[in-house]
Amino acid sequence: MYLLGFDIGSSSVKVSLVKADNGECAASAFYPKEEMKITAVQSGWAEQSPEMWWENLKLALKDVLVKSAVKPADIKAIGISYQMHGLVLVDKNQNVLRPSIIWCDSRAVSFGEKAFRQIGETRCLEHLLNSPGNFTASKLKWVKENEPELFAKIHKIMLPGDYIAMKLSGIINSTVSGLSEGIFWDFKNNALADFLLNEYGFSKDLIPDLVPTFSEQSKVSAFAAQELGLAEGTVISYRAGDQPNNALSLNVLNPGEIAATAGTSGVVYGVSDEVKYDPQSRVNTFAHVNHTDKQTRLGVLLCINGTGILNSWIKKNVVSAGVSYEEMNDLAAQVPVGSDGLSVLPFGNGSERVLGNKNLGAIIAGTSFNTHNRNHIIRASQEGIVFSFKYGMDIMHETGIKPAVIRAGNANMFLSPIFRNTLANVTGATIELYDTDGAQGAAKGAGVGAGIYKSFEEAFSSLKKLAVIEPEKDKVEATKEAYNNWKNVLNKNL
Ligand code: XUL
Repeated sequence: MYLLGFDIGSSSVKVSLVKADNGECAASAFYPKEEMKITAVQSGWAEQSPEMWWENLKLALKDVLVKSAVKPADIKAIGISYQMHGLVLVDKNQNVLRPSIIWCDSRAVSFGEKAFRQIGETRCLEHLLNSPGNFTASKLKWVKENEPELFAKIHKIMLPGDYIAMKLSGIINSTVSGLSEGIFWDFKNNALADFLLNEYGFSKDLIPDLVPTFSEQSKVSAFAAQELGLAEGTVISYRAGDQPNNALSLNVLNPGEIAATAGTSGVVYGVSDEVKYDPQSRVNTFAHVNHTDKQTRLGVLLCINGTGILNSWIKKNVVSAGVSYEEMNDLAAQVPVGSDGLSVLPFGNGSERVLGNKNLGAIIAGTSFNTHNRNHIIRASQEGIVFSFKYGMDIMHETGIKPAVIRAGNANMFLSPIFRNTLANVTGATIELYDTDGAQGAAKGAGVGAGIYKSFEEAFSSLKKLAVIEPEKDKVEATKEAYNNWKNVLNKNL
C-alpha cells in the first residue's frame, strides 16, 4: 500500500511515493530541473502560471510511477503541500483567469494597510490574528480594483493547493488552514471573516466550501486518472500550506515544538496552544494543520522571502558558470566568520513582513576592494540570511516562542555547513536535521486523512534524525559580533 505526496514549491514541484507500512520513500522526483520562473511584470510583482505547476506535477509523477513500478491501484491516498498565500482565480468552467499572484508579490501592501486602519487594528489582530497585510485577500482586492472585468468573471478563488486538488478531482474546496493563510478566517467566531469580505467588497460566493485538513476531500476524476496514470477514485485526503506541512513532516504539532525551512523563502515556525500574535504582524499566526474548534494549535510563522533565492541568484550571477552549490559552500569556508566586515541584507524578493512589509531590496554593505572577493559575497549572503532569521526570531520571542531545538529537513540551505552552524551559533539553538521533505510529509498526511494511520505518532514513527548541530563555542562570539554589525547596517537602511 502506497501514499502519494505532491509539494508545489516556487522553484519546483516535487512528488514522493511513500510505502505506508514502513514510511519509507519508494521514489521521488522533481520538475523542472532548472528553477521555475517567477515572472515580475513590474518590479515587486511575482506571478506563476498554475498550469505550469500542473505540467511539472505531471512530469514528476510520471518519473515516480516509472521508477517505482507501483500499480496505480496500490496508491491509496494523495496529499498536497503548496506555496502559501497565492491567489488562483477560476471561472465557471474551472479555467484559470490570470496567472497566480504568488506569496512574494508585493503589490497588495497598500490595500492591506488601509484595511488594517479602516477595520481597526485591534479587531483585525483579535479576529484574524494578523493585519490583512499582503496576503491573499489583499491580492484579490488588488484584482478587484485594477482588473474589474476579470474580477466579474471569477467563480471561485483558491489557494495554489486547492487548484491542484481541483485539477485532480474536478471539485473545488479549501480548508480552514487555507482560509487562515489567506486572512479570510475569523478565529474568534470560528467562521468566515464577514467583516473583511465586506470591507473589501467580496461576495461570500467566491470562497470555496470547506473540508477538514485531514479527511476524504475529493477523489481523482476519470479525466485526471487518464491524464496522470493514476487510478480513478484515489482519495485526496490531506492538504496544507508548505510551512505548516513542513512542520507536520517533522512531527512538529504541539506547543513548544519548532520547525524551519530554507528553500526559496526561509521560515521558522513555532506551534502554540495560546492565541499569540505580533501587534505589528511582522511574524504571523495561522491555523496549524491540527487546529480545530476544540483544540487550539496555531503556527507562529517568521518568513524571510529572500532565502534560497538569494543563494541561487549568487550562483547564477556572481560565481563562474558551472560552480555547484557544494563548491560555493567550499569557497565560502575560505573566509572567516563575519566575512571580514562584509554584510548582505537578503531582502530582494518582495516586501518582507518582518520589516513591516518594506521592500528594501538586497544590499551589500561595507565592501572594501582591497579585502573582499567573490568568496566573501557567498559567505556574507549565507550569513545575512541567517542574521535575518535571528532578527525575526527575536520578534518571535516577544510573542512567547522561544526556539531551543529547531527541526528541519536535510535539504536546501540546511545542506550548507556555514548556514546551519551560523544559525546555531547566533541563536544558541540546537538544530536537528531529519531525513524527510514536504512531499513525503504530504504523503504521510494523506495516510492520516484517509485513516490508514490511526495517529500522528504512527505516521511519523519512521522519521530518521540524520544530524544534530550544536553551537560551536569558539565561534559564538565572532558570530554575535558579525550579527551586530549586520543589524547596524539594517537599522541604517530601515
Ligand atoms: C510563508 C510564505 C512562504 C511560502 C513559500 O508564509 O509566504 O514561505 O509559503 O512557498
